[in-house]
Parts: sequence; structure tokens; C-alpha cells
Amino acid sequence: MNRGIYAWKGGGDQVMSGMMSDFCRRVLEKVGMPPDEAAIMAQCLTEADLRGHETHGMSRLGMYLERVKRGVMKPDPEIRVVQDGGAVTVLDGDHGFGQVVAALALEMAASKAAEIGVGVVAVRNSGHAGALGILAERVVSRRKIGIIFTNTSPIMAPWGGREPELGNNPFAIAVPREGRDPVILDMALSVTARGNIILASREGGAIPEGWAIDRGGRPVTDAREALLGTVLPIAGHKGYALALMIEILAGVLTGASFGRNVASLMPPDYSKPLGMGHLVMVLDVEKFIPWDEFQRRLSRFLNQIKESPPGDGGSEIIIPGEKSAQKRSRRLKEGCVINESTRRELIRIGEEYGVPFEV
Ligand SMILES: NC(=O)c1ccc[n+]([C@@H]2O[C@H](COP(=O)([O-])OP(=O)(O)OC[C@H]3O[C@@H](n4cnc5c(N)ncnc54)[C@H](O)[C@@H]3O)[C@@H](O)[C@H]2O)c1
Repeated sequence: MNRGIYAWKGGGDQVMSGMMSDFCRRVLEKVGMPPDEAAIMAQCLTEADLRGHETHGMSRLGMYLERVKRGVMKPDPEIRVVQDGGAVTVLDGDHGFGQVVAALALEMAASKAAEIGVGVVAVRNSGHAGALGILAERVVSRRKIGIIFTNTSPIMAPWGGREPELGNNPFAIAVPREGRDPVILDMALSVTARGNIILASREGGAIPEGWAIDRGGRPVTDAREALLGTVLPIAGHKGYALALMIEILAGVLTGASFGRNVASLMPPDYSKPLGMGHLVMVLDVEKFIPWDEFQRRLSRFLNQIKESPPGDGGSEIIIPGEKSAQKRSRRLKEGCVINESTRRELIRIGEEYGVPFEV
């Protein structure tokens, strides 16, 4: 299969020439990832850091490399089409890196959408896809709306329970705007990404109450205890119910692993591949409504939202994706800050793979 079709065409040239991205790309090539796919991974991880999603940026590289070393993740998988008909394609990711497999799925869905208005790609046997908004955004420059759901390692209890039965199952929706940053909703269904608890535990710190429960189902503020327990869903039973539905769409429907059968990233389970699934959908705006009309309507709506009167003590009204875009442009100028534990980890990786990490 020609996987060269999804070379990155987003706005990340400056990042790509950056030291961090270059380091990531070179390390991944050393473990056998084809250069264009290593470039996608480098793009995804550095973009996550630029946008303020440090939990899904370069701090994850070591975890992925360890899985490659243990033989449960493939740097050069044989991704194949299992089934293809009408709007729907089913893809087997052969336990590759989730970002690379999902990027391909988005390209395939975008091609279908260009033809018939909508493309849906169900992905099985994939890996952890990281920060999803970066993936959904890949199609917006082609006047398309990108949507992605993924399941992930079981770290959340069903509402009322205490055992980790399902992921915090993030999803992202990216909507194109002419000459402006896209509107991007990109969120997991736990109060906080588990990565924040991992970072807190590496720094030896505490976490706010309401993020997690311990093994006994009790509220917890010790980050290490929290990692042994489960994260709490957003909005109580509603967040749990949303995560359950995404587990059905991205796990059950796609033929991927689901629930407690998805391997754990942390604490790491190297007995089997992650087995995650994604459901990707692309809508071609112009098959629904003329582009200019969509843009006029969208701008009118978003202006109404931005100009809506603030609540008591309320701050500026924000459109989803706006803060990340602002952070990204600031960090492109001023540089990206990585925390000490990530810096130490990257230096260690650099030594191991013979690619010096110099910050
Ligand atoms: N692949 C995985 O398994 C996995 C798991 C968990 C999280 N993640 C990723 O981690 C990242 C962080 O996730 P998160 O749930 O912590 O996101 P978050 O809470 O930082 O942001 C959620 C959404 O809210 C929007 N937002 C923030 N402030 C806003 C405001 N004042 N008004 C309107 N919108 C606002 C953001 O633009 C974003 O779209 C995401 O990129 C997500 O994809 C991935």
C-alpha cells in the first residue's frame, strides 16, 4: 500500500525544522520507522507540546520506544484494508504507532469524502494516537471537517464502580475556517488527562481532589495512589456514558480490543499489543452547502458567541481551539518549555539511540 500519500502539509514547517522534532524523527528512523512516517510522529509530538498538550507530546516518546523494544508495537507495520465499500473502509493498523495509522485513516476518509461527501474509516489493531486534534486538523485545509474517536487503555471505572473498565476515550472535531485557525474541540472524557497525573507523580507531587479515586474507590490527592486507582469522568454519569459510547464506536464496532482487553500504557502491559481502535469520519463541507455560505454562517455564529455578554466575573469567551492556537504561535516564537523529567528522559533516549539531545 502506498503510504506516502499523507506527507504532512499542515502549518508546522518551523516546528519540523526545530531541534525537538528533528531529534524525534531521527530516533524513530533509528528504530526502523520509514522517514515520512517518522516525520508525522515528530510533527504530532512536537505540535502537542506547542499547543500545550505536554502530556501527549515528547513526554510519550520513551513509552512508545519501550513498546517497540518489547516487540508489541511496530515501527513499520503492514497496514491493510480489511474491507472497503461505499463510504466505509475498515483498516487493520498491524500494531503500528496510532498517530501514523490514524493519519492514514484520515487521508482515506478525506478521499472518500471528496467523492461522495462523507468518508468513514474504522481502525483496529492500532496504537495510542496521542493528541487527537492535531490529527483531525489534517483535513481542514481541504475544506473538510475531521472527526476522530479513539478508545484507550482502561483507566476509568464505570460511574458508581471502582475497577478500570474503559478508557477516558478522547475525541476531536476540527472545523475549517477560511483564513483563520480552525475551530477544534479536542478532549478526553476524564476530568484531567491521565498524563497530568503521570507528570505529577514523576515530579513527586499531589493532584487536586476530583481528578481520581484510589483502588478502593475513595477520592485521592496522592498522584502515585491515583495511578493505582482510576480517573474520574467529566460531569459524573454523563462523562462515563459518553466514554462508554466511544468505546462502542472505536472499540466494539471497529473490531479493535475494547474495555479491559485493551493493553495498559501505564502501568505498562507488555504482554500484548495495545490493540486500540479509532473511528474516523470526514465530511466534505461543499457537498453539504456552498463553501462561502458555510463560512459566512460560521463566522456569524462564532461572532455571536464571542460577543455574548460575559457572566458575573466571567472572563473573555473562548472558542474551542483558540487557546491552543494562541499558545502555539507564542511558543513558535519563544520556544517550547519541557519539564525536567521529560528533558532527562530525552537525554537518556538520545544516549541509547546515538542521537544527542541538546537543550
Ligand atoms: N490518545 C489518548 O488516549 C488521549 C487520552 C486523553 C487525552 N488525550 C489528548 O490530551 C489532550 C488534552 O485533553 P483534555 O481533555 O485535557 O483537553 P482540555 O481540557 O485541555 O481541552 C478540552 C477542549 O476544551 C477547549 N477549551 C479549553 N478552554 C476553553 C474555554 N474556556 N472555552 C471553550 N473551549 C475551551 C479546548 O480548545 C479543547 O478543545 C487532547 O489533545 C487529547 O486528545 C489523548
